[in-house]
Order: sequence, then structure tokens, then C-alpha cells
Amino acid sequence: MSASERAVALFAEAWGGWPTTLVRAPGRVNLIGDHTDHQDGLVLPMAVDRDTCLALRPRAGASARVVSEHERERATVRVPPSGSAQRGWAGYVEGTLWALAGDGHPLVGWDGAVASDLPVGAGLSSSAALELAVALGALAAADAEAPDHARLARLAQRAENEWVGMSCGIMDQLAVAAGESGRALMIDCRTLACRPVPLPAEAAVLVLDTGTRRELTSSAYNTRQRECQRAAESLGVASLRDADAETVARGRLPEALERRARHVVSENARVRQSAYALAAGDIVAFGRLMEASHSSLRDDFEASTAELEAIVEAAGSQPGCFGARLTGAGFGGCAVALVDAARAEGISAATRDAYRAATGRDATVHVCAAADGAAVMGGDAR
Ligand code: GLA
Repeated sequence: MSASERAVALFAEAWGGWPTTLVRAPGRVNLIGDHTDHQDGLVLPMAVDRDTCLALRPRAGASARVVSEHERERATVRVPPSGSAQRGWAGYVEGTLWALAGDGHPLVGWDGAVASDLPVGAGLSSSAALELAVALGALAAADAEAPDHARLARLAQRAENEWVGMSCGIMDQLAVAAGESGRALMIDCRTLACRPVPLPAEAAVLVLDTGTRRELTSSAYNTRQRECQRAAESLGVASLRDADAETVARGRLPEALERRARHVVSENARVRQSAYALAAGDIVAFGRLMEASHSSLRDDFEASTAELEAIVEAAGSQPGCFGARLTGAGFGGCAVALVDAARAEGISAATRDAYRAATGRDATVHVCAAADGAAVMGGDAR
């Protein structure tokens, strides 16, 4: 059964009858441009063809009751939330409703059921998908119009920054909101302009899940984000988007901060070059940029792990692989590889074998296509 069918079935089981609204929100994978968004920089993600689906129906009363196929406990969230009462997945539901209310949107109570094909905490943005599904679902339940992608993404980001406590940038939420089938999106995280970048038909995108989850991801992430902010302050710029390689080299920053800043500045340049390479259909050049991005994230940003190294090496050494790199926050989770589409299955199997031989662990490989962003599906689900 698809995630949308499972969401409807779970709804019927938990609340009886049919939902009135069904929303799907995809995950995302970032092809290049990591740890640049929290510095107003450039990123090149795509929404993937794996969804989180939310089936819901308005109810009388000032609360949203939600069940998830992955969680044993049902959550009941006050509408609008008055203080942070929920932990874990329900905290994302609560934070999103809080951000919607703060942005002036009308809210009503509802019953909902969540089903998802996205692995949780793996780096495919299962949390941003949940936030966007809840935002669109709650607005539909209240018969309210959804704001544009940028505003929707901002409020989902606010939920994460101010409610959940993760100082993330805007990339995940905007990629999930604005994704386009068959294309990646070059996003300027300062202006929130999104430019579609066609993906070459002869290439396939593999998401390589190391199977490692870092409980401390958010604290490691927040540490890196603060380091970048300190580097920007020392260089006298609002964010590292405004610095260039020379400013960083001459900035007399403490050594670690200099390396963090060097990564961000060089990564922005690689994203720009990548968009040109892809527009010109030059996959080989793009693959080299992916590799350079990985080295920078490992050496300068120190966001890699032994498992990420092993999987990037396993995929990158296969004939037919154009490039591989860690993707997203790092510190565990997933890598991404761009490979010859005709050989995708063989490369996936060989990568899993090589990774197991190197680490004794099993990897999961998803062959992903670029998909459309989050949306309310059809009309009334009845
Ligand atoms: C996480 C964050 C994003 C982004 C990436 C790294 O996915 O949520 O905002 O910073 O890490 O590029």
C-alpha cells in the first residue's frame, strides 16, 4: 500500500469514517550545497518521490488528535498550542500549529493520521515533510488559503528553530514545499528565490543510508551553526554569504573557525558552478564538484563519520558513478550519489556489498527521482 492509502486506512481505524483532506509532502535530498543555508547561501536540493501523508478531518473542540503508523502513542495537541508540551514527532506537529497561529492563520481542531515512506532521522527531511503536511492539512481543515512556498517554508522553519530547538536553515522546508518533478532547485537562501535546474535523463540519484543515526545530530549541528556565526561576526559580515575566500584567508580567525568559513565560502562557489554544469549537461564536471564538496565537509567542516566515509568510498569507486558525497547535516545518516541510470541497480548492489565488507553494517539504497513539492491531494478524500 502507498503512504496515502496507509494514512487513510490508519485514519479509519483510529477515528472511524473517512478523512476529508489528504496531504502529501515529500522528503528531500541535497545534491550539493550543505551547511550554506544557515549562512544565507546557495543550495541545490530536490524533493524525492517518497512521501509523508496526513489524512485528516476537522472536529469540534480546540485540539488536534494525531496518530502515526510509526509511533505507539497518539498525540493530542492544543489548538493553538499555548506552551511546548510535546516531545519527539508530536513536537513538530505542535510547533507547526504554533507557527501557523503566530503568522495569523485561523485554526480549527482536527483528527489526523500520518503514514510515511521516509526513514526517520536519516537525513531525508522526514521532519520538514511532517511540518509541511501538517501546515497544509491544518490550513485545509480551517478552509484557509495556503500562503506561498517561501512563507510556508519560513513558518515551518520557525517551528523547528523556536519550538523544537534545531537552528536549521530554510533548505529542507523550501525544497519540500517547492520541489518540481524532474528538476533540482537552486535556492538562494537569502532571497528565497528558487530556480529549477533540469537533471540529465541519463543520470540517477541514489540516496545511500548508512544506517547510523546520531542522537546528537542537533547539538553537533547547532555547534557548527554557532561557529559559522562567530566566524561571520569576526569578519564583520552579517553572514558568511557575504565573505569571500580572500576575506576568510586574511581574517585571522581561530583555526577551526577559519576552516568552517572556508567550507561555506567554497561550497557556495561549487553550487554556482554545479548549476552551470547541470544546465550544460556536463555530469562529469558535476560529479567532480560533488566530490570536492564531500572533501570540504569532511576536512574543513568536520561533519563526516567513518560510516559516511565508507559509503562514499564504496559508491564513488563503482564504474558508472559520477560523484558521491555526504548529504544534509552529516554526523551520520545519508550520502548521495549520481550514477549512470542504466547501471543504477548494479551500482546499488555493489555499493551495499562494499559497505558491508568495510563496516559490517547493512546500508539501504533508495533510487530516487525528483518529485513535486507538498500538496493537498485531489479534493475531498471521500
Ligand atoms: C539540515 C538542516 C538544513 C541544512 C542541512 C545542511 O538538513 O535542516 O537546514 O543546514 O542540514 O546543509
